[in-house]
Amino acid sequence: MHYKINTYGCQMNVHESERIAHSLEKLGYTETKEDNFDIIVFNTCCIRDTAEQKILGHIGKLKKIKRANPKLIIAIVGCMSSQKGKAEELRSKYPYIDIILGANNLEDLENAILNLQNNHKKTFLTPDDDKPQVIEDVEYTRTSMPNAWVNIMYGCNNFCTYCIVPYVRGRERSRKPESIIAECTELINQGYKEITLLGQNVNSYGNDFEDKRIDFAGLLERLAQIPGDHRIRFMTSHPKDLNEKVIDIIAKYDTLCKNIHLPIQSGSNNILTAMNRHYTRDKYLEIVKKIREKMPLCGITTDIMVGFPGESERDFEDTLDIVKQVKFSGAFTYIYSPRKGTPASLMEQIPYEIKSQRIQKLIKTQNQITKELSKNYEGKIYRVLVEDAKDDGKLCGRTDCGRLVTFSGDKAFIGSFKNVLITKSQSASLFGEITEEK
Ligand code: 5AD
Ligand code: SF4
Repeated sequence: MHYKINTYGCQMNVHESERIAHSLEKLGYTETKEDNFDIIVFNTCCIRDTAEQKILGHIGKLKKIKRANPKLIIAIVGCMSSQKGKAEELRSKYPYIDIILGANNLEDLENAILNLQNNHKKTFLTPDDDKPQVIEDVEYTRTSMPNAWVNIMYGCNNFCTYCIVPYVRGRERSRKPESIIAECTELINQGYKEITLLGQNVNSYGNDFEDKRIDFAGLLERLAQIPGDHRIRFMTSHPKDLNEKVIDIIAKYDTLCKNIHLPIQSGSNNILTAMNRHYTRDKYLEIVKKIREKMPLCGITTDIMVGFPGESERDFEDTLDIVKQVKFSGAFTYIYSPRKGTPASLMEQIPYEIKSQRIQKLIKTQNQITKELSKNYEGKIYRVLVEDAKDDGKLCGRTDCGRLVTFSGDKAFIGSFKNVLITKSQSASLFGEITEEK
């Protein structure tokens, strides 16, 4: 019996698919990359309409396959199915779906499959069935050695006016620090070299503990002190919550990567207010200054959105201006997509052509910056974690500050740290060679 998981969306979803894989393997399924699957699970995303349309297109294509093989199990799980009314909509549009679960009831997958196999009973859970408690000791089938993801918290309390995440993932819940430390220690002992801590807003880690026994800086410090040759990253940070204490801890420990993902979303104060982001462009610039004072080489990456309702040409110019000032080492750029049930979807929308022009301009501006920054790497040596081999046999890995480097070497180096001299750069790509020098 074979399974296939189609994962859409963020790293949180990629990690949760490792949990789904474990559930399926417990039931006796093995993974297949081909079309010979007996169960297919869609781990879905709904952050933008494009994500949803892509998923719905794929589900639509399964109709014929299910007709030819009625025993095939089709399960739709994750954020898209957590939207209010979505389970009902999916059932009526695609009656051949067998299982629907939201992002907060993935633990029900095994039972849902057994119920189908033993009692021919389909399972459709709606957001009302959500069990948003924090489950510790979740088991995963990890496939990303030497990298591992560790969830430190679930959900989000911020309600940025464009964002659907708080509606589908619920309120912030932090995992117990002891469980996180134990999980990271075990991963390091197993040979994992890089751990990425995941949360929608990691800087508010621990805010939900009544006794306030630990905050994100405290957690980071405890994790940084775990002995071993490894490094730790985290995402995502919110500019309103990233404080100096966290910056100081990152600067203090070599095991903490000098790399911060700090979504700015917009460079206009009017738009930031309308987005409910709780910071101004000056506050953002101040944080960047503090980071760079303490860690001049820290990579700062960001998310930026264009075409939020009411965004004027002037507002957009403010975004371009801050992008030029900060010089992000990388930026994920998005066109605002109205999400049903969020306040911004009810505001007056901007025509698509304007959004499209703005994103092209933004991408061009950032690409130019990335290209210039890449040049600075040439001739310097960086410690790189060798992560993978490409189809052409070349190795690739990341620097501490998060830049991807391609170089020649033995595949046996995967999972170890190597010093790499950067010999060439091409826009966002860096090329180099392994060196003994430091
Ligand atoms: N439309 C476009 N982009 C969005 N994001 C979140 N919601 C939307 C939306 N409705 C972007 C934000 C966030 C990233 C994960 O996705 O930039 O930081
Ligand atoms: Fe969405 Fe804002 Fe929460 Fe990020 S902080 S998940 S953008 S609501």
